Amino acid sequence: MTVSVTRTGKTFVAEVEGVDLSEALDDVTVKELRQAWWDNSILVLRDQHISDDQHIAFSRQFGELQGHTVKDWLLPTHPEILVLSNRGCGGVKPLENGGAYWHSDITYQTVPPMGSILHGLTVPPEGGDTLYADMYAAYDALDDETKELIDGRNAIHNYKHRYLMMAEGGRRPTPTAEQLAEWQDVEHPIVLHHPDSGRKALFVNEGFTIAIKGLDNDESDALLQRLYEHSARPDFIYAHKWRTDDIVMWDNRCTMHRATSYDAEKHERTMHRTTIKGTARRQAAA
Ligand SMILES: [Fe+2]
Repeated sequence: MTVSVTRTGKTFVAEVEGVDLSEALDDVTVKELRQAWWDNSILVLRDQHISDDQHIAFSRQFGELQGHTVKDWLLPTHPEILVLSNRGCGGVKPLENGGAYWHSDITYQTVPPMGSILHGLTVPPEGGDTLYADMYAAYDALDDETKELIDGRNAIHNYKHRYLMMAEGGRRPTPTAEQLAEWQDVEHPIVLHHPDSGRKALFVNEGFTIAIKGLDNDESDALLQRLYEHSARPDFIYAHKWRTDDIVMWDNRCTMHRATSYDAEKHERTMHRTTIKGTARRQAAA
């Protein structure tokens, strides 16, 4: 099997050809894919007609898998898979407006995931794209004064605020006492020193970052807003237009993502996601 990795128009996204994920991959191929993933942050593989078992087996080549705090969205037959579907699918509750805000996955846990692997099963003919932001580029483009301001600072992340906002609008089930107890504040450095690439990335997200430690509320809100707007600059963004059986793998440590809108009344959008555990606590950049 010869793996071909081709950069798209964006510097942090590559399309991979020559790999069939329905077959077992040899060690050399897995090693090449892992290196390509660190080199590019986002890998796109087209026409991968894979089962849930094959999706899980492929994902496990990159590390241990983790579930999700909202069990309603885990596939009962394969709880390693998170179902993002506006219709519900396989006994899973429908998810309205899933991920329609800039975020990286599960940063509200002490050790956020290393990455996620998303399989597009049913995609709308128009809209429902996933936008990805290059957080290496976002960090690199900050002015020196801002770099100095955020260097060594931590931000607080929590799932509760986002979830309760959605639950109040009737778009999420009422959280259980167990979930509320689980959703505690965690801290991560704003500047992430990527353990595999050695590069620095900006690590805040609109989904789950609620404050910057050591700043008063107004200063914190203003700085976070400025960093979010900066990160969403068009030159840092790749828009993935889904085709059925696309696989997109993103490095969760140096990218953010969000879904775009589509006609959810008319069209189904169903994705299966596996999530790979992070292996190292983020460290402040030196
Ligand atoms: Fe996400």
